[in-house]
Amino acid sequence: MKEVYLDTFGCQMNVADSERMELLLFHSGYTRTHEKENADLILVNTCSIREKAEQKIFSLFGHLKPLKEKNPDLILGLTGCLAQQEGERLLGKMPFLDLIMGPDHVEDIALAVDRIRQTGESMVWSTWDERKNYSIPTLEAPPPGNPGASAFVNIIKGCDKFCSFCVVPFTRGREKSREAEEIYSEIRQLVDRGAKEIILLGQNVNAYGKRGMNDPVPFHELLYRVAEIPGLSRLRFTTSYPRDFTRELILAYRDLDILMNHLHLPVQSGNDRILNDMRRGHTAREYLDLVSELKSEAPGIALSTDIIVGYPGETESEFQDTLKLMEQVGFSSSFMFSYSPRPGTPAALLADSVPEAVKHERLQKTLEHQARLTEREARRFLGKDVEVLIEGRSSKNGYEWKGRNPEYWRVHLSGASLKAGDIVKVRVDEFSGHTLMGHALDQ
Ligand code: SAH
Ligand code: F3S
Repeated sequence: MKEVYLDTFGCQMNVADSERMELLLFHSGYTRTHEKENADLILVNTCSIREKAEQKIFSLFGHLKPLKEKNPDLILGLTGCLAQQEGERLLGKMPFLDLIMGPDHVEDIALAVDRIRQTGESMVWSTWDERKNYSIPTLEAPPPGNPGASAFVNIIKGCDKFCSFCVVPFTRGREKSREAEEIYSEIRQLVDRGAKEIILLGQNVNAYGKRGMNDPVPFHELLYRVAEIPGLSRLRFTTSYPRDFTRELILAYRDLDILMNHLHLPVQSGNDRILNDMRRGHTAREYLDLVSELKSEAPGIALSTDIIVGYPGETESEFQDTLKLMEQVGFSSSFMFSYSPRPGTPAALLADSVPEAVKHERLQKTLEHQARLTEREARRFLGKDVEVLIEGRSSKNGYEWKGRNPEYWRVHLSGASLKAGDIVKVRVDEFSGHTLMGHALDQ
């Protein structure tokens, strides 16, 4: 068999796309290697969400170029969002590339590689998939390896929101949902192979069911139906968009024990003028109201978010509103970013007016603020018992296993005769950042 080396940058969608490409290539005669020096095919699945991500990728390709010079038969591919965004232009910067392929062609990876082998010519594939439906067909032979205790399942692709700062609608196209039957059958297969937890995945999962389906099912309905799949113990989803969050979805948290008590709900800013400029379609008050409704239906629910500091025109007091909102919600964790203009987005037409030093300072303050909130939330668990789904071995000194509790905190634990996939009660003895440490209790 030939060998493929895969490197992945960016979000969970990219991780899922890489896994899918690995599987499709496996069926086409490639096994995965972790040593790029011996590979016949190298694919770098890229991200273009922020400038930093792009810089890392360009420097990686600088290191890959000599491998191609040494072995002209090596196929070197750049897939993912940067490929979609830059297309042909990348060949100008990196003429040694063999393949440039956007995320809409993941299903065609084996075909693309075969064609390059046959013709010996490089290929740019950044057109949109014109099919109305979004399908990830089940392959006949089971995928290599084990899915692990927690597995991601794509339910929707693309994003129609066009937040002013974001490239996703341009790199991943319009929202298209997968048929519910196809999703159930993938989940059943994963559960049969040992998965205990499913995380439904999409850029905007709660827009599920709106487009691209023969048999439309609203998102909350999908949750109720997935919850009935025998053998499934835990259900999560990510990422949600506040405006699309329905009352029915809030009630699903109340009704479904299997739906874990955590929600990642990006807010970006706590200031109404900035939220409006970002085209988020809601105010800070509306976000807070949604959160309090959730907290009253699902007591103890953990919330995490995404935050951008230094959006064009953001004043010091507008920034303070973000810190205030973080405090009011009490996020258990946040992904915090300094704004960077992305080519082609509406915000890139505005002057990037907040100086880098100020952005940096605001980011620091946000990180420190979140660290305090995380500590406050962590204390809730100290000395208490939490249920942990074991995902695998811990690399932390003194602990044997790692997993997550329902609120999505990483938990390291000590305990004998356990295995991945077990759900165990753990007494929390310590914490550090967004991580809890403890020992398994005798069952
Ligand atoms: N719904 C998506 C959000 C995608 S982008 C999801 O599935 O996660 C992830 C986060 O990156 C955004 O929520 C936003 O906080 C941040 N981000 C996007 N564009 C950005 C930019 N131009 N500058 C800084 N941060 C950005
Ligand atoms: Fe991006 Fe906004 Fe969609 S952040 S992924 S355009 S919801």
